[in-house]
Amino acid sequence: MENNVTPIRSRQAFLSPKNPAFLQNRIDRYYRERVMNTWDGGHIMRGRTPDQYSTLLSSNDYLSIAQHPKIKYAIADSIERNGSGTLMSGIFLHGDNKQLALEKSFANFMQSESSIISQSGWCANTGLIQSIASEHTPVYIDVLAHTSLWEGIRSAGASAVSIFHNDPEHLERQILRKGPGVVVIDSVYSTNGSIAPLVDIANICEKEGCILVVDESHSLGTHGPAGAGLVVELNLTSKVHFRTASLAKAFAGRAGIIACNLEFSDYFKFEANPAIFSSTLLPYEIAGLQATLDVIQKEDWRRSKLQQISKKVRESLDDLGYNLNGSLSQIISLESGTEQQTIILRNALEKRGVFGSVFCAPATAKNRALMRFSLNANLDDYSVEKIISVCREIRGEVGMQNWASTRRSRYATRVTPAVNVA
Ligand SMILES: Cc1ncc(COP(=O)(O)O)c(C=O)c1O
Repeated sequence: MENNVTPIRSRQAFLSPKNPAFLQNRIDRYYRERVMNTWDGGHIMRGRTPDQYSTLLSSNDYLSIAQHPKIKYAIADSIERNGSGTLMSGIFLHGDNKQLALEKSFANFMQSESSIISQSGWCANTGLIQSIASEHTPVYIDVLAHTSLWEGIRSAGASAVSIFHNDPEHLERQILRKGPGVVVIDSVYSTNGSIAPLVDIANICEKEGCILVVDESHSLGTHGPAGAGLVVELNLTSKVHFRTASLAKAFAGRAGIIACNLEFSDYFKFEANPAIFSSTLLPYEIAGLQATLDVIQKEDWRRSKLQQISKKVRESLDDLGYNLNGSLSQIISLESGTEQQTIILRNALEKRGVFGSVFCAPATAKNRALMRFSLNANLDDYSVEKIISVCREIRGEVGMQNWASTRRSRYATRVTPAVNVA
């Protein structure tokens, strides 16, 4: 079978030691339950290979800047001058250093006292939660918040109190039961593109004396004035204690950021395990991000175009009967449900040249697998029409009317935007 993932042991040139039974059983379970029983010997993530005519909706380069000449020049110039630079943990950085200068630039951009550059969004989130929560802190977290935030709770040894998705009333009830703590949400949710009710949640946190952490990975660069994010757009900087973001989305780089107060930034660098025990970014990554920040602030047209395209695709797919689970952003997902149904959806889309990203457990709940489209500012009218017409054409083939998400939408009420979504 094409894309067969069962390992063929006898053909290996070098033999590694055999696994003991406690590990082998886990590995066998993966091949038996997922590969053979659910994916029929193939792999849910590996369908066709896209070609030059394909419409690619799997990259999170929302503003289409990965090939920007100014950014490429800044990276190449830095490599020419510095090579890989000095390889060390960020804890040793001080004085006249480009990473510290970039942190100042990000703080200005995000209208924050200070900021911390991290190696990734994952490191920013795990390091932050580990540094602010302890085993005695209740951490209230939206069920759809990113896994790195849950991992931070685990490494802090704190107790996670899960909150229904985008449900401020449930949050308030839980805080009243368990006391003040840390509230953790995403501004735009990565699986379904829904937007958090930030104003309501910030008001509850202020009233109940909680710390508020907002992951802006999918809104920094794409939302707010000059791309400064949703917290700035909603005028909430004085109510949100910490904002984090992966810079591997609209910033098209490999890093993470935390906006925080001045006192916290030095403490973090001496407290968070990823900041101490893992090497910091290389000079060309810093140079690239400094150039990217400039491009993102100046090229407003990219944000406007992304908004226009997203609105058009959302409205069209909604009219076609797809349940978009409250998407109000550039992330649009078709929730096909079971993994078998998702493979049928993937094949139907890819056969027609549309390539998104499959999300399934552990990134979604079991039987709530989906195909995510990450839209970008470079999509031309032809590609936008193609996405819509392909989604129209495949409805019968993929059994869209029978998906659990479609049935759910018949009972759902319309979602009110938290912000003005053009
Ligand atoms: C909301 C959110 N936070 C954090 C991360 C982790 O970011 P990174 O890929 O930079 O580690 C991601 C990436 O998937 C994300 O979507």
